[in-house]
Amino acid sequence: METDIDAQRAEDARLLRESLTLLAPVADQLIADFYDRLFAQYPQVRSMFPAVMDLQRERLLKAVIALVTHYDTPDALLPALTTMGRNHVRYGATVEHYAAVGQTLLATLESYAGAAWTAELAGAWERAYTFAAGVMMRAATADAAGEAGADRQDAA
Ligand code: HEM
Repeated sequence: METDIDAQRAEDARLLRESLTLLAPVADQLIADFYDRLFAQYPQVRSMFPAVMDLQRERLLKAVIALVTHYDTPDALLPALTTMGRNHVRYGATVEHYAAVGQTLLATLESYAGAAWTAELAGAWERAYTFAAGVMMRAATADAAGEAGADRQDAA
């Protein structure tokens, strides 16, 4: 039986796909602009990233495309997001960083979408980002809890 959550997600997935099609021709520029804005607003994160950002831009774009493409089958996204969440612990990403990235990404998307940016579309992107960041952060904290458990066992 389809729940309200499934229906919301299916509608979000439709809006996100539409929006990605619209943004595809300017996607590379959008991603470059996203990092420019992120580093201008949060200069403290610049040194976490490589000096040359070409590969990083490509990787982020691929991750966003995968998120939008499979958003209506979230289970399919869990393995990759979990691995990414663990990697991001190594990069030093914190909860505050996730909020900064989300806010910057949404603002960048809004400025590129122009008139196509509606409250529904903003909600869809926000829910998709919150989902992805949530899975990534939970994977990170689950690992940390596991390590704490292992420490306790070692001590016993
Ligand atoms: C939902 C949110 C995010 C997504 C989808 C995302 C996506 C990615 C992807 C696909 C990579 C390539 C390597 C890998 O897969 O591990 C990456 C690397 C990286 N991300 Fe993120 N990221 C997110 C949030 C963040 C946040 C909050 C930070 C903190 C500032 C961050 C900092 C980095 C850094 C430092 C790298 C590694 C660069 C390098 O050394 O090559 N990311 N990210």
